[in-house]
Amino acid sequence: MADETILGGYGTEEDKAFETSLRPSCFNEFVGQNRIKENLKIYIRAAAERGDALDHILFSGPPGLGKTTLAYIIAGELGTRITATSGPILERAGDLAGILTNLEYGDVLFIDEIHRISATVEEYLYAAMEDFSIDILLDQGPSARSVRLDLKHFTLIGATTREGLLTSPLRARFGVMEKLDFYPAEEVALILKRNAEKLDVGLDEEGCRLVAGRSRGTPRVANRFLRRLRDVAQIKANNVITEAVALEGLEMLGVDEHGLGSMDRRILKAVIRHGGGPVGVKTIAVSVDETEDTVENVYEPYLIQQGYLTKTPRGRVLTEAAYQVLGQAPPASGQQRIF
Ligand SMILES: Nc1ncnc2c1ncn2[C@@H]1O[C@H](COP(=O)(O)OP(=O)(O)OP(=O)(O)O)[C@@H](O)[C@H]1O
Ligand SMILES: [Mg+2]
Repeated sequence: MADETILGGYGTEEDKAFETSLRPSCFNEFVGQNRIKENLKIYIRAAAERGDALDHILFSGPPGLGKTTLAYIIAGELGTRITATSGPILERAGDLAGILTNLEYGDVLFIDEIHRISATVEEYLYAAMEDFSIDILLDQGPSARSVRLDLKHFTLIGATTREGLLTSPLRARFGVMEKLDFYPAEEVALILKRNAEKLDVGLDEEGCRLVAGRSRGTPRVANRFLRRLRDVAQIKANNVITEAVALEGLEMLGVDEHGLGSMDRRILKAVIRHGGGPVGVKTIAVSVDETEDTVENVYEPYLIQQGYLTKTPRGRVLTEAAYQVLGQAPPASGQQRIF
């Protein structure tokens, strides 16, 4: 498997099944993000005490940090059903109406990639979220009329990797907005340990530290590494992921000592080819043969968080740290552009 898929991609069906098998089912199993967890627990308790449905919640943040997982945990804690759909699937208002009218009181409606819903569906959603009602058009032509249908109070949980693309009217209808951030290495290490146990593979301290440090602060990446390293350990090391196994396995996956994969390095090098920036994300995407969306939302957040890349109004600019990890000399200070 190419490291592109492991680091950033959404993976195959098999990856998804593996991921689901490791998905925490309650807050106790969900590592880190403590502030968010504590907030959610309070909202859930308060709503339950009042006998209300929980407020609508929006989770945002880079891929693989636990947005979908939290939505399922919340439904589990509420003891309600969860219906999952996603922005691009909801093409027509009718698609949404069908789902909404089937919701019971307190149910969770999870809309993944909510920034991608169409404008018509979005408008429909406004009334549903706010007044718990929708207008349905009956018949066509001259006899067409619209009827208002009342909905049961449900909780919408939206997830997005692009909070900035949400319109303000939609954003305003969420009572709770939480932004997930990359996990510190110690928390990734804890996730790795728990999952190694679940997968029945040994993981020693050094191995764990190494893998955690290269997982880009992302549980999904850590889990995918674990899956590959389990194979290496099984064939070569008595089923224990040691530092040596981790080193060998990660090298096979093209991940370097900084946790960067070949696509990350290609992105950084593309910026170097443009004089270190500023260069637009479109140009970068063309140079690395990826979509703009993937470069911007899958790869860049980590490169920015790690301080390799900065965003400026005129485009992306490489930092000195990036030249260092690529083993290249930064341009002489006279030529260097403004960061
Ligand atoms: N805090 C956590 N503790 C343990 N495992 C986690 C945690 N967060 C995420 N995971 C695991 O990482 C994987 C990815 O999580 P999830 O699918 O929830 O991410 P996501 O934010 O919805 O990503 P995307 O934006 O791509 O939809 C899952 O297998 C999940 O179990
Ligand atoms: Mg998700």
